[in-house]
Amino acid sequence: MRVGVLTGGGDCPGLNAVIRAVVRKGVKEYGFEFVGFRDGWKGPLEGTTSELGIPQVRGILPRGGTILGSSRTNPFKVEGGVEQIKKNLADLGVDALVAIGGEDTLGVATKLHDLGVNVVGVPKTIDNDLNATDFTFGFDTAVNIAMEAIDRLHTTAESHHRVLVVEVMGRHAGWIALHAGLAGGANVVLIPEKPFDIEAVCALVEQRFESHYAPILVVSEGAVPVEGGDMTLVSGEQDAFGHVRLGGIGDRLASEIEQRTGKEARAVVLGHVQRGGTPTAFDRWLATRFGLHAIDAVHDGDFGTMMALRGTHIARVPLIEGTGELKLVDPEEYAEAEVFFG
Ligand code: F6P
Repeated sequence: MRVGVLTGGGDCPGLNAVIRAVVRKGVKEYGFEFVGFRDGWKGPLEGTTSELGIPQVRGILPRGGTILGSSRTNPFKVEGGVEQIKKNLADLGVDALVAIGGEDTLGVATKLHDLGVNVVGVPKTIDNDLNATDFTFGFDTAVNIAMEAIDRLHTTAESHHRVLVVEVMGRHAGWIALHAGLAGGANVVLIPEKPFDIEAVCALVEQRFESHYAPILVVSEGAVPVEGGDMTLVSGEQDAFGHVRLGGIGDRLASEIEQRTGKEARAVVLGHVQRGGTPTAFDRWLATRFGLHAIDAVHDGDFGTMMALRGTHIARVPLIEGTGELKLVDPEEYAEAEVFFG
């Protein structure tokens, strides 16, 4: 069997670990051949490939990014895109695909499977917003990077009696903010799932100063004020999946807090640092196991499935279960963190 592998969407620590596991087990246990598709769905669409075998996956386990490249190409937005993919797969003799990606990449995989393409999905995203799996790989690394940043920011906040606002990624899900905020001892965590009241936020800031400490606020890039309006948009442009680029809320919030409380407030935007560099041990473990189980699914002909972590078990679930709806922060879990606010 000849198997194509692709990585789509934002790069994420652990992508290379999946590729390595898929190839190592596929060659050793099943005698499969592999083709690497370049830059997400752009690869099968344009027929751009790279060699993929044991030599290509040597030494890549700890490397961030993806050796296959990535893009946010949506073949359903390209005239004749699906037919082109089918033709390219047939011309290259590719019998099945392993698609490693988030909501968008696996959303395409779901639709392609319905149209007769043999595809197995592996869920990745630092945002942890894919349903059906307890965690996606990449999330743990992002949380650890954000936590370390918060740890380091405490010293400046205390020394200068400043408010520090840490803006983290996560799109419309507050998982990174909540987990990093809890782990880093933040005094306020603002997530998209719970619109915030700026006056209540300022009251928590004042309260923190009253106890002679300086506040650290963690804000998710997609957080929104209760009164509505947009505090986040940096660009009105949409990508091929209809997402606008988020960002900017940290600065807006810091200046609003400074104006309302009179305390100096600064913002730190962690940006792509959160998804850069080497994966944590947990993400290497999860990504590797997802890869091993994904190639088993290909071998079993169990197409249209996605790997999912359930406790410590890797399950196979229909792709649509992971991509149909976003996994958002449970209000009860957020409420647990509120005891540390202020
Ligand atoms: O989905 C991962 C993610 O890092 C989001 O948290 C963020 O909103 C988005 O990708 C940024 O994408 P890009 O790097 O394409 O601007």
